[in-house]
Amino acid sequence: MNDYQQFIVNIKKKTGIDLAQYKEAQMKRRLTSLYEKRGFKNFQEFFQAMETDQNLFHEFLDRMTINVSEFYRNAKRWEVLEQRILPKLFERNRRLKVWSAACSTGEEPYTLAMILSKFMPLSQVSVLATDLDENAISRAKIGIYPERSLQEVPDEVKKKFFTKEGIYYKIDEQVKGAVTFKKHNLLADPFETNYDLIVCRNVLIYFTEEAKQSLYHKFNQALRPGGILFVGSTEQIFNPLSYGFETEDTFFYRKVE
Ligand SMILES: C[S@@+](CC[C@H](N)C(=O)[O-])C[C@H]1O[C@@H](n2cnc3c(N)ncnc32)[C@H](O)[C@@H]1O
Repeated sequence: MNDYQQFIVNIKKKTGIDLAQYKEAQMKRRLTSLYEKRGFKNFQEFFQAMETDQNLFHEFLDRMTINVSEFYRNAKRWEVLEQRILPKLFERNRRLKVWSAACSTGEEPYTLAMILSKFMPLSQVSVLATDLDENAISRAKIGIYPERSLQEVPDEVKKKFFTKEGIYYKIDEQVKGAVTFKKHNLLADPFETNYDLIVCRNVLIYFTEEAKQSLYHKFNQALRPGGILFVGSTEQIFNPLSYGFETEDTFFYRKVE
């Protein structure tokens, strides 16, 4: 077993996170640059140090979970969600079960809640938001963001749901209240079922082909017939039918009924 493979085994034992399901070259590069910066020669030394140094362990977690996100990321796709996908889902069901999977620091589930509030009172909106990274979840719960996270937010939405505090923007308390955050590992934890909409964007790109395929099946099982999977703008599914999906629009897949 080489140095990196042994590291994968150790990390799995320590955290339950299976690095073998992430694209190897990319992950190895990210982690190598971190341990070199911290003065270690190989993964073994890096892991040993992590066992006693909590800060280093958190740095490792930070490096492996790439948290970049923003509100209305790829704004055109959110327009499609609002104008074409949600009206159809609401025709079938007044109460939607919605999941933002790998939600990072909250920009995505909050965007969802703000859009859903155009269809129903915000007090009735409910979005489940999950991520592997507890730090990201803590930041999401705080709900304070730099201006660059809001670049794509329409002006009227910014006015309605954000308060400027110095150089930061604070999300409205009611929007916050519409989102429930939980820790969840997509590659290890069970999925709930009967979702109308699952948003899982910009995380599948980090996974191996096998991990991705198994996740498409799991998302399919987690949706109600007719439910929608919304993926990131580089994450088109080839051959969606083989996972029980039809293409509803670019980057939106409907579970075959
Ligand atoms: C680039 S962010 C994407 C955030 C958001 N979905 C978006 O599109 O802006 C990727 C997120 O995936 C999370 N992640 C990585 N591996 C995961 C796993 N196995 N289970 C759940 N979340 C994971 C990371 O912690 C990170 O917050």
